[in-house]
This record gives sequence, structure tokens and C-alpha cells, in this order.
Amino acid sequence: MRTPFVAANWKMNKTLPEALAFLQAIAGKLPDQAEVEALICAQSLFLSQMMIETKDEPLKIGAENVFWQNQGAFTGETSPKAVASLGVDYVIIGHSERRKYFRETDEMVNNKVQAVLRNGMRPIICVDETMGQRESNEKVHWVVSQVIEALKGVALEDADKITIAYEPSWAIGAAAASAKEAEDGCYLIRQTVADMFSDEAADQVRVLYGGSVKPHNQAELMAMPNIDGVLVGDASLDPDIFLQLVNYQQ
Ligand code: G3P
Repeated sequence: MRTPFVAANWKMNKTLPEALAFLQAIAGKLPDQAEVEALICAQSLFLSQMMIETKDEPLKIGAENVFWQNQGAFTGETSPKAVASLGVDYVIIGHSERRKYFRETDEMVNNKVQAVLRNGMRPIICVDETMGQRESNEKVHWVVSQVIEALKGVALEDADKITIAYEPSWAIGAAAASAKEAEDGCYLIRQTVADMFSDEAADQVRVLYGGSVKPHNQAELMAMPNIDGVLVGDASLDPDIFLQLVNYQQ
């Protein structure tokens, strides 16, 4: 059984004092990690402090991006080795905003996935889909090819460390996909993993949906057989709403 996963992506929001105030507001109110795995991905410059503040909480902390080399002359970049040295568990890779604004290609995404795994962390690989692709017949090809390219060279024994998020960019900060449409995207991703690796690997990989998830649509999405969790932007910025999202089973 895959543990339900509620992951926040704070993006480029919050200052350090705001991040710490948020953590104080949720302290002691999170569910057991065996019931729901809760994660907050934040700007890299907060991660060290956030790890310290949450060491006794059932909460994981993640990065929103890393570079693919561990060290060297790459001014301004964030080393995956340095992030791992903080004890960080997860790194979001290939978010549509990075593909769009920072021109991240499938090859870069693949290099970053390998760097995250090499450093003992777990990638959350985002698979995008634009409105144009949704409306044309390209959807299947686009989703499948991003998964194949992102997982190239990944070893079968690392399959259980992989999370893939179906995040259609047309649904981000807009209207969420219907539960049926989100399920179709997540099913396609799981099938692609089965074709690339094995049915067992596809069973272990966690597949998330992201795009305008709120407390009112979360339960229906997470009830779908191939949706193991959600990756949440805007709604995760408010501690009360985040608590509703992680405590959705109560
Ligand atoms: O990674 C999360 C994301 O892009 C969805 O954002 O604000 O639509 O929940 P939002």
C-alpha cells in the first residue's frame, strides 16, 4: 500500500520569519506519518532552519530545485550534495515553471533526477501538459515522453524512491482538473512506469496530482485509484488550510 502524500510547494513565497511562523502554527497538529506523509518544499535558503524547527514533527522538508552537479564553478546554483547534507528528503524536479521560465529541458530534468538519487534524496518529478496539448491529441505522447525522458538510466531498485506529479499547467492557479481527468493523467504515468520497469515498480511509485488543489476538491481527487496524493501551491501557504489538507481523513 502506498502512503497518501500531501506535499506543499511554497514556490518563491514567504520570508524566513513567515516560514517559521507557519511552522509554529502547525506544530503538534500534523497526522502520523504512517497515515499521511506531509511535506513542505520551500526556497533553499530556508531549508536548514526549517529542518531544525521541525525535527520533532511528523513533517518532511523538501527543496524546489537543485543543480545536477554536486560542486564546482556554477555561480548561484544549489548543490544537491549540500541540500542532502541538511537532511532534506525530497526535491521537486522539472516543475512547469522551471521548464517555462528557466528553459529546463527533459535532459536537464533527467540529470537532476539522477543527482537527487545519487545524493540519497527522493525526486518529485513534475510532468506538465499545456492547454494546447490537452485539446489536441498530443496529450498522451507528451505525458509519456516526459516520464520516459525523466527516468532514463534510473535503476529499478530506485523505483520506490520516485514520485511523479501530473501537473497540467492549465490547471495551476486556475481551475483544477476534474477527478476523472486527473486520474487519467496519473494512470497514464503509472502505466508508463510499468512499461519501462515492471508492474511491481509501477505499484511502488507514488503519483500525485497538482493544480488548484483545495480542501473542497482534495478528497475526491485522492479517492481515485491512481492518485496517491497532491502537490499544492497557493492553498499550502496558509497554515490553517495546510492543516485541513494534511488532516483530510479526519
Ligand atoms: O506545484 C504546485 C502547483 O504548481 C500547483 O499550484 O497554486 O495551482 O495549487 P496551485
